[in-house]
Amino acid sequence: MAPYFSFIVLLCAFVSLLTGTGAAAVGTATKPTVILIPAAFSKATVYDKVKHKLSNTGYDIVAVDLPSVGRGASKVDRTPEIEAVQKVLSRRIHQGKDIVLVGNSYGATVICDAVKDFEDKSAMKYPSSSNGKILGLIFFSGFIPYISELSGAGPDIRHISPSWFRFESTKRVFWDNDIKNHPPQFTLYNLLPSSEARTYSGSLQPSSFAALNATATYIPYDGKFRTLYFIGKYDNTVPSALAESYLVQPGAKWENVTIDGDHSPMLSRPNEFVNIVRRFSREKA
Ligand SMILES: *[C@@H]1O[C@H](CO)[C@@H](O)[C@H](O)[C@H]1NC(C)=O
Ligand SMILES: *[C@@H]1O[C@H](CO)[C@@H](O)[C@H](O)[C@H]1NC(C)=O
Repeated sequence: MAPYFSFIVLLCAFVSLLTGTGAAAVGTATKPTVILIPAAFSKATVYDKVKHKLSNTGYDIVAVDLPSVGRGASKVDRTPEIEAVQKVLSRRIHQGKDIVLVGNSYGATVICDAVKDFEDKSAMKYPSSSNGKILGLIFFSGFIPYISELSGAGPDIRHISPSWFRFESTKRVFWDNDIKNHPPQFTLYNLLPSSEARTYSGSLQPSSFAALNATATYIPYDGKFRTLYFIGKYDNTVPSALAESYLVQPGAKWENVTIDGDHSPMLSRPNEFVNIVRRFSREKA
């Protein structure tokens, strides 16, 4: 009975290969889930443009709001953010979906910690395993921990943050410390048309100090996971020199891509953003 059954399965596979229908179906079915994590001060709606474009080409997209962003979030630390991402990860992996994680700015630190318990799902370690793998992580203008920060206490966020961060004691953090010289239209949205930059500036929300100041516990970019770092040439918040300092660390194993982007490429360069995600997912785009 068993050999006969195997033969039928083989025959079906062969026939669908010939007709091409099976191949097409597999092509769509294997588009990964892309989990999108926003920056500090930002809501997941910043991803709406690229979310629609990626959905239209067959990707399953989940944009996650960070629990640390919002007027009432002053007590939230990084734990619930990591858990929010891991919840989506677990569910999709269980469904057999392959995963690409995307983090922008502070969101990149969150996806680092989120994959800590998922090493056995890394496509880097087990390239030939069936569905339900983590294909990799993309850091768009990521503000991330250095490898050396894991061995000691990380720096206090107040010592390494840009001059335009405003600290409301150790409760909340705002973006308006130097609104004259460093408004969001310059720090975050410098390549957007001014009306659009004004809209997004107006929708910024404070982030909790506890989340931004938390110490990272895991580094995925040392070969354990496939990782791509995106540099925007006109990024006024993570300038190229800072971005390159992440790439050239001893032990770091990165792919990298540089375009004429700013700190918010999902808004200012949506087509390029989408193509980077598609190419990373091994799709010809
Ligand atoms: C911020 O983080 C640093 C480094 O981990 C730590 O020493 C400091 O106590 C933290 N500050 C607060 C107020 O939690
Ligand atoms: C960026 O990637 C290119 C290959 O695409 C490589 O030649 C270059 O060394 C990388 N840059 C850094 C700073 O790692």
